[in-house]
Amino acid sequence: MEKTFLMVKPDGVQRGLIGEIVTRFEKKGLKLLAGKIMVVSEEQAKTHYIEHESKPFFESLISYITSGPVFAMVWEGKDAITLTRSMIGATKPTEAAPGTIRGDYAVEMSRNLIHGSDSAESAEREIANMFDPNELIQYEQVIAKCLY
Ligand code: TYD
Ligand code: MG
Repeated sequence: MEKTFLMVKPDGVQRGLIGEIVTRFEKKGLKLLAGKIMVVSEEQAKTHYIEHESKPFFESLISYITSGPVFAMVWEGKDAITLTRSMIGATKPTEAAPGTIRGDYAVEMSRNLIHGSDSAESAEREIANMFDPNELIQYEQVIAKCLY
């Protein structure tokens, strides 16, 4: 089983889309291990987006992600990283397919609603950056017996 870090960004929280977004992953059969509303600190934001440090959009990305509360989550499931990335859709909302979260609800790349880890290494780093290990709850999910 794979873990991934997903985060409803400040625009998603403001638009009241937390429930809609959580519902999609829940219905897919993924298991929610942790979830909290929080304000990302400048330091956490820079760690989270370290790979984009040298990009021209880095400063605006940091100020956007720290601009208001986000909903941070850890989800677990088979191929959870690839699965959630495909449910999230392309980074650019104009390229995100209908049926994906960004395809259905986002207009601007800089306001694309949700973050999802892109590899097991990023997931591990991103989870550790936002959660204490004891915030992740391990439990048996009965539905898993129907899925896998
Ligand atoms: P990236 O990791 O490439 O996308 P994703 O969120 O799909 O993993 O980029 C991180 C965020 O940075 C992206 O969600 C939106 C923002 N961004 C821009 O504002 N301008 C850009 O040109 C790119 C590539 C990303
Ligand atoms: Mg990314």
